[in-house]
Amino acid sequence: MKKVLVTGGLGFIGSHTAVELLGRGYEAVIADNLSNTRAAVLDGIEAIAGVRPSWVDVDLADPTACRAFLARHGDLAGIIHFAAHKAVGESVQKPLQYYLNNLGSLALLLEHVAAHPACGFIFSSSCTVYGQADELPIREDAPIKPAESPYGNTKQVGEEVLRDAARAHDFKAIALRYFNPIGAHPSARIGELPLGVPQNLVPFITQSAAGLRGPLKVFGNDYPTRDGTCVRDYIHVVDVALAHIYALERLLDGATAAPVEVFNLGTGTGSTVLEVIAAFERATGKRLAYDFAPRRPGDVIAAYADTAKASRELGWKAERSLEQSMGDAWRWQEALGADEGV
Ligand code: UD1
Repeated sequence: MKKVLVTGGLGFIGSHTAVELLGRGYEAVIADNLSNTRAAVLDGIEAIAGVRPSWVDVDLADPTACRAFLARHGDLAGIIHFAAHKAVGESVQKPLQYYLNNLGSLALLLEHVAAHPACGFIFSSSCTVYGQADELPIREDAPIKPAESPYGNTKQVGEEVLRDAARAHDFKAIALRYFNPIGAHPSARIGELPLGVPQNLVPFITQSAAGLRGPLKVFGNDYPTRDGTCVRDYIHVVDVALAHIYALERLLDGATAAPVEVFNLGTGTGSTVLEVIAAFERATGKRLAYDFAPRRPGDVIAAYADTAKASRELGWKAERSLEQSMGDAWRWQEALGADEGV
């Protein structure tokens, strides 16, 4: 059985990826310090997969703890590295915490891969590296724009750290640039657990519809888009999780063409905020109250992926619709009930 380390494996995308790994007969070892999730997610993973993965509560940015943990796992076939802080606003307030955590853990994990070059490495990057791209859909070779936040910078610099290390130490890695992962597992056993008031659109919508929040504020209705609201590429989290399996197998098969390959993970279709609301209403039969509010600083007008490279080289494409994502997000919200998250 091939053993794969999933860092941040109790988080939103990590937990869905652990489920898919277990379903394919991999042994999943989860490292998660519960900084933005709960131990009960392990029960959800087990309920879906029928197997309980092992979980270690370890701070991967702590050199002593991280090295001691990895020393016990010299036989890893791969590492899928999700563990990172991800709140844009918070990163502006606490940049050093973001750099220490996101880049420190990355360097320590890569130190292990450098010593075990057969261990495939997958890095969670973000479409945020493109900023407002000059051309849509966005291809992987589009220019990287100056980061809008320390969080975004950890993704840009993280990709550079990965490239430098892979070149120097002769290992292979894949960076996956996520567009907007949303939804939840269709079983409603795992999903997103936002911290406090959700900053992201879809968890705010489901909490608002559940009566936990007031009406949604739609940030900006004067953008140069088809209805004046921003356009994003919303992708079902299970599709995102599956892409990690394809990437892992590409690494394990020795099929990569460069030390570090980069792929966009999106659907290829952009949706406006109003279209997301309409999809939610269709999927759930509920009406969503919303108001227009000023633009949110730092928001780009439109971003959606060119998916040709992922489809051609990874053999993966997103298959779940926006409506399905919204329905699954709502069923997860209903399963949470009055529970507001972390
Ligand atoms: C945000 C981050 C991005 C990060 C991603 C992770 C910012 C500027 N960008 O992406 O770096 O990788 O989350 O998931 O924070 N919206 C509303 N009302 C709301 C919330 C959002 O109208 O209450 C709108 C936004 O203006 C945007 C769209 O919904 O047009 C999506 O927003 P969000 O879910 O926060 O994602 P991004 O901003 O695309």
